[in-house]
Amino acid sequence: MAKSYTGGKHWAATRWKGFTQVTTQPYVSATHGGRQVQNLVNKIGLNAYKKFDDIKAVPVGSTMAKPSFTVGKDGEAKLGPLFIMEKMTKGFNADTSNWRYAAILPGGNTMGVTKATNSAGVAFCHECHVSGEDNDFLLLAPEEYRVK
Ligand code: HEC
Repeated sequence: MAKSYTGGKHWAATRWKGFTQVTTQPYVSATHGGRQVQNLVNKIGLNAYKKFDDIKAVPVGSTMAKPSFTVGKDGEAKLGPLFIMEKMTKGFNADTSNWRYAAILPGGNTMGVTKATNSAGVAFCHECHVSGEDNDFLLLAPEEYRVK
């Protein structure tokens, strides 16, 4: 896949490749446009995230990245958006329990970032992630795709 997410302004769009993959393979995520996705977590969040259904809370600075792609009729993979969640310090945004959501388009342009570019355009992220309240609003890959 030629296009990447770099070239824009979000630090994680450049750095996510250094995160640890917590999914064993791409899987179809109906909630992220029916695209194939993988989940990656940075060093700060890794231990907490790997408790999966027992997460309760992740440390400030925890960052999750979810690259996506679709496969066309011609069998060619086409890059989709990069979805990012970043746990900010207390006081950042009570509405999202201090999560900063971001969606970065292939090529690096920003689709939206909580409390920054097109914040309203990513409000739907937390509206759905709110159902993961017990796990600090993380919703986790289906069990069969988790790296244990
Ligand atoms: C309709 C519900 C829904 C919406 C809207 C949604 N998500 Fe998710 N998200 C999920 C579910 C369910 C999972 C875990 C399973 C999966 O990947 O499909 C998940 C997983 C994630 C993960 C991996 C970390 C985790 O929760 O385990 C990230 C990162 C993420 N979403 C970011 C976003 C961003 C950014 C947006 C908005 C642009 C967004 N999501 C919108 C339901 C949603």
